[in-house]
Amino acid sequence: MIVKQYIKDFEKLGFGMFVHFGLYSCIGMGEWAKKSRSIPWEEYLKTLDSFCPKEDWAKELVRAAKGAGCKYITLTTRHHDGFSLYDTCGLNEYDAPHVCGRDLVKEFVDACNAQGIIPFFYHTLLDWHEESYQTNFQAYLVYLRKSVELLCSNYGKIGGIWFDGMWDKPEEDWQEDALYGLIRSYQKDAMIINNTGLNARGALGHIELDSVTFERGRPQPINLSDSPKYIASEMCETFADHWGYAENDFNFKPTAELIQSLAICRRYRSNFLFNVGPKADGSLRTIDKGALEILGQWAALNAEALYEPAPVAVEVENKPKNFLLKNGNNYYLFLFDISMRGDGNVAINKEMVLDNTFSLPETVQSVCWLDSGKPLQFTQTGDRVTVTAEPYRYGQSFVVRVAKITV
Ligand code: GLC
Repeated sequence: MIVKQYIKDFEKLGFGMFVHFGLYSCIGMGEWAKKSRSIPWEEYLKTLDSFCPKEDWAKELVRAAKGAGCKYITLTTRHHDGFSLYDTCGLNEYDAPHVCGRDLVKEFVDACNAQGIIPFFYHTLLDWHEESYQTNFQAYLVYLRKSVELLCSNYGKIGGIWFDGMWDKPEEDWQEDALYGLIRSYQKDAMIINNTGLNARGALGHIELDSVTFERGRPQPINLSDSPKYIASEMCETFADHWGYAENDFNFKPTAELIQSLAICRRYRSNFLFNVGPKADGSLRTIDKGALEILGQWAALNAEALYEPAPVAVEVENKPKNFLLKNGNNYYLFLFDISMRGDGNVAINKEMVLDNTFSLPETVQSVCWLDSGKPLQFTQTGDRVTVTAEPYRYGQSFVVRVAKITV
């Protein structure tokens, strides 16, 4: 099996931010607004007059991502409405430079590079705006490849390209060899990802693809037994119900659920790509910033366990939801559903089994909470190890807590 270093490096990024930003952000009804609300083009294109992100939109986004513990950002450089945030260099006039006189992808990449975050480009495959998509598919593919070529050649080294929308014309020959080959010729170590969508989560696609996707799902172990190449996996998730900004969507996920999703992704060495949809001016809402800050606080406490360690074939026998990762001489035991104990007036008193039993080939030297360094009780008899978690006391509630086991 071929193992490529850049794919292994991608897995260690662990946590990324997805950004859906475009003309639809001015409408505030999600990125599918044009289609789902049947907005005529004449009206939709009026958004062009108001689309002018504030000067420091990219810097602020990158700062928020970094504070959350994200190592990369995947930005919608062109979504299904066909509008490009980058300079299409004459391919058409339906791009940011013609609207606000700025190349927003360049601003994004510069902000990423300045703050040590890796830029990734989302690019649509289906296109509602480009006429050739319906009338002359061969010509459309040429247009698509020229567009992608610009992204690969005008912005320096990028982390990867994330395609979406092939599912719209499954019967067509998308000439994937040519598309992916083009990327490879400019960006040797870029991840090439093609979202298989809701109905084919985790499906292995073309041999040039470097990661499978689990859009709004739960990652599963991927079966690489018949794959000639080692591939990564990534799960993307919305914060509320939309990818693009939707003003009246109140269905935000609790931060506890987001922390759990991030942890569960790492169990399968999958990356968690958490989405935000900035408003028309490119800024995030207070709730986005708040959630990112909470995630960042949790990620900072658990950073040692989050990025580098890899899954091991050790089951926690009495608590299968809990799991271990390993890096060098350390195991990291991720613990879910720890009870809280305290005074009956303020804390939930649940009596629970706090022992976690599993087998390790090595002798355990010490066990402590990763977030505080406080020692934890453990016993070892032969290869059988039991780590006893202490319940939360009123004053703390980590949702998922990590015990560091040194062997
Ligand atoms: C779906 C949607 C699209 C969104 C993507 C994110 O494919 O069509 O709007 O960008 O999911 O994964």
